[in-house]
Amino acid sequence: MDRSRIHQAAEILRKGGLVAFPTETVYGLGADASNETAVQAIFRVKGRPENHPLIVHLHSVTQVCLWAKSAPEAALALGRKFWPGPLTLILKKASTVSKMVTGGQETVGLRVPDHPVALALLRKFGGGVAAPSANRFGKVSPTTAGHVKKDLGGDIDFILDGGPCDIGVESTIVDFSSGDPVILRPGGLTRERLEKALGRPVAVRGIGPVRVSGQLESHYAPKALVVVVTPGEVESRAAGLSKGGKKVVVLAKRDVAAKKLYASLRRADESGADVIVVPAPDEKGLGLAVGDRLRKAAGKR
Ligand code: TXA
Ligand code: MG
Repeated sequence: MDRSRIHQAAEILRKGGLVAFPTETVYGLGADASNETAVQAIFRVKGRPENHPLIVHLHSVTQVCLWAKSAPEAALALGRKFWPGPLTLILKKASTVSKMVTGGQETVGLRVPDHPVALALLRKFGGGVAAPSANRFGKVSPTTAGHVKKDLGGDIDFILDGGPCDIGVESTIVDFSSGDPVILRPGGLTRERLEKALGRPVAVRGIGPVRVSGQLESHYAPKALVVVVTPGEVESRAAGLSKGGKKVVVLAKRDVAAKKLYASLRRADESGADVIVVPAPDEKGLGLAVGDRLRKAAGKR
């Protein structure tokens, strides 16, 4: 790891700049979460509506008390068990947390990412780093520094390259702000592991009053149309769809494993696909998050 680049990136954050950095899930576009002007720049660059809250990235569970007004013991226990890792906790925000970060809500999303470069940056910087995925709003998330450069390169101050992301889908968001924990977005931490740790079933909540950008009808979407079919139907559907002269790209099961999913969708776009036919994953383990992202990618535009 290049210490001088980490140092440079932390300096840019301190001055209110935007730094893209790797995490174990996807690349994030970071700004000083305590600097409203810097946070505003994230929304501008992403083209993201300001009522969609950002996750604040921390280097340690001990920082939770600086950002949350209160945290149920069960939430802290999850943080201690799974952080650093692909878990985001939604908690009641501390009064000092800007509503610019929380999209106007009284809750805040917190996470400690499991990537040596992200952790080194967060330690060097010291404060919280607000960071959405480093892509334009509604588009496919980046899992390499190259993806970030292609999407946002000219509009941001610095990119830290930490290689391809290990997990490849975003963190699991668990809301503890109103009683029983619920999953707002399935992600890198499996529902099975979460339920085992909590010792009970956890519901996945669909579209609700809380704004979760990944809950819009179309999200994580490539340019091409995405068609999700049962594995047995792949060939017949692809043949049918290509009849009108459309370029159809068929993804194999291994192409849509969590780690490869976003890179595969991007590659299909680059090859000029009009339609991408994808076999539906088995929705167990990381397959739950993959299925969720594919449904959104295939959603109404
Ligand atoms: O893995 C991840 O979570 C990545 C990496 C960079 O950490 N980040 C990420 O950020 O996926 P973003 O902004 O693309 O998605 C964060 C989601 C959004 O859907 C947002 O609405 C939701 O988290 N979120 C953040 N704070 C929230 C809050 N207070 N209440 C409800 N949802 C919240
Ligand atoms: Mg995103």
